[in-house]
Amino acid sequence: MANLIIPPRWRIPEHDVTPEAVFRNRRQFLRDLGFAGTGLLAAASFGLAHAADAPAATGTNSPAAGVKYPAPRNPKFNDPALKLTPEEYPAHYNNFYEFSTTKDRVYRLVDKFTTDPWTVEITGLCEKPMTVDARELLAQFPLEERVYRFRCVEAWAMIVPWTGFPLARLIEKAQPKSSAKFVKFVTAKRPDQMPGIERLRGYPWPYAEGLRLDEAMNDLVLVASGIYGKPLPKQHGAPLRIVVPWKYGYKSIKSIVRIEFVATQPETLWETLSPEEYPFESNVNPAVPHPRWSQATERLIDTGDRVPTLPYNGYGEFVSKLYGKG
Ligand code: MTE
Repeated sequence: MANLIIPPRWRIPEHDVTPEAVFRNRRQFLRDLGFAGTGLLAAASFGLAHAADAPAATGTNSPAAGVKYPAPRNPKFNDPALKLTPEEYPAHYNNFYEFSTTKDRVYRLVDKFTTDPWTVEITGLCEKPMTVDARELLAQFPLEERVYRFRCVEAWAMIVPWTGFPLARLIEKAQPKSSAKFVKFVTAKRPDQMPGIERLRGYPWPYAEGLRLDEAMNDLVLVASGIYGKPLPKQHGAPLRIVVPWKYGYKSIKSIVRIEFVATQPETLWETLSPEEYPFESNVNPAVPHPRWSQATERLIDTGDRVPTLPYNGYGEFVSKLYGKG
């Protein structure tokens, strides 16, 4: 039945982030479960297996930290040329594979996920390792709002106001040792609360991502606790995620429980699954196609308009020097 549902205008079939090999495993897995119909298999892969044709007006708000929202907007990241994507689109169009591979199912599956209280461990090669409650962590830094472009590797894009603080401030507090060259980030792994983990048994959970230490120190990287002037809804990665706006969206890892300073490039979930498709660096680059699709343009998730993709997602002036260009 699922394949007969007509997608609404705002939801255009697109490439799934899932690499081909994994998709094949998933097909096998679905077959094992008895879902042999090709329609459903295709739907599961391309995000069409949804039951409603319009998003409900709810987003599940986490109480997150006892922080006041909205935070003041940072004028440096408030380009008047950027038109915000209306909130309901990002709230109901999520990649959070721990819950579902179907974007408009994620927000319906997060109720059981408890995000308060929440502990974050800061560990590894640093002078001041700490294990802190997310509320306490947030209370240590002034929060600000920034309007950023956000570009998924699947070639969809949105413009959203994040609330958070620069990751660099946290790194300074942790005092990485000179041997620390990378930062690894890890998401919670709770199969009892995250139904997608069991469904994608072949994935190397927990979701992990990483940045070079100098990238992580760049002023653009936010530890986000909010979006649209409110605490992050669970589907966006409550209570804390990072946002790395010049890289493809999979680097912006959600619901972080561990931040670790390491000497060598850490393994990440997507690079482990398919290094050619999802390499570690993954800067937004319209000139380098994904092996299965072009990255020259992107689709805005609200209007459906196709617009040219910008190198570094438009943030070259802040980051090109990290790559010896400028
Ligand atoms: N973080 C975790 N833990 N699990 C995920 O599946 N998906 C990534 C990223 N962070 C993902 C994740 C991808 S592919 C994208 S595009 C963004 O989250 C989507 O963020 P959003 O749903 O808040 O728009």
